[in-house]
Amino acid sequence: MTLAAYPHLRLRRTRASGWSRALYRECVLTPADLVWPLFVTGGTGVHEPVASLPGVSRWSVDLVARRAKEAAALGIPAIALFPYTDPARRSVDGAEALNPDNLVCRAIRAVRDACGDAIGIVTDVALDPYTSHGQDGLVDDGGYVVNDDTVAVLVDQALNQVAAGADMVAPSDMMDGRVRAIRMALEMNGHPNVQILAYAAKYASAFYGPFRDAVGSGNLLKGDKKSYQMDPANGAEALREVALDIAEGADAVMVKPGLAYLDVVARVKDRFDVPVFAYQVSGEYAMIEAAAAAGAGDRDALVLETLMAFKRAGCTGVLTYHAADAARLLNG
Ligand code: PBG
Repeated sequence: MTLAAYPHLRLRRTRASGWSRALYRECVLTPADLVWPLFVTGGTGVHEPVASLPGVSRWSVDLVARRAKEAAALGIPAIALFPYTDPARRSVDGAEALNPDNLVCRAIRAVRDACGDAIGIVTDVALDPYTSHGQDGLVDDGGYVVNDDTVAVLVDQALNQVAAGADMVAPSDMMDGRVRAIRMALEMNGHPNVQILAYAAKYASAFYGPFRDAVGSGNLLKGDKKSYQMDPANGAEALREVALDIAEGADAVMVKPGLAYLDVVARVKDRFDVPVFAYQVSGEYAMIEAAAAAGAGDRDALVLETLMAFKRAGCTGVLTYHAADAARLLNG
């Protein structure tokens, strides 16, 4: 078959009017594509803006429940909870992660009380909000993050969150074998329907800075996370990570950060055709806000364009701090 050529073919024809652009649009972005990460802090009625994330705050448990209700009303299907742990409760072994009354567990219960099943609750499985050294796992004398002992603690952390009511656990630690260990523990403890969203390809990125401020691990962290998070130079390795996490029992995989790694999203989707999520991380949010504040672009348009890019790349959903604002824009 010979394809038409100019002037018989004019690709601008279908772009000439709004109705036609709507008709030919390949991807849609709706609030149902978004997951809203929320930072939790202690107390009641507490609302602490995060300086490096303009427009983002830490909320006490009561206010997180309100935010979750708001999210459900906007059509956002799930929230992801991240705690700012009191420094006095951080320790070398991160034991607070296993406390059934820790901030995250209390937040889970409060959200469930406020929203019932109207919203999914995603929790982060990793020790960094709880350790005095800011690493995601247990460290040996040389400061190396040890794998297998860490996995054992992560399993207990996940079970602790699920006992409080988490619907989906999201291991963000990048230890080997943790998805299998968590899946087996969920099966053995009567939680066959709890989902695992595996941070399968999580890179050692400079875009996490504001998040570490928000959870208070930034100033504690010595060194970096390069011995477990991936090298930004690697793409094929991401496919191996994804293959393993699927085989180990993940329901969905995640690529993180987002915008600078959309090639990885597209390769994962193309190769495995499993549900892929991306995390538009804190530094990306800050970048968009800073660009808008500097007059370099229209903020709302930047937000929606970048989120649509995730859909075009093949994402099932996007974790973004812009979720509530984007949902409001999309809902008109
Ligand atoms: C920690 C964790 C991080 C993020 C989510 N979970 C930071 C890190 O690995 O240091 C980053 C999210 C963001 O930057 O928005 N396990």
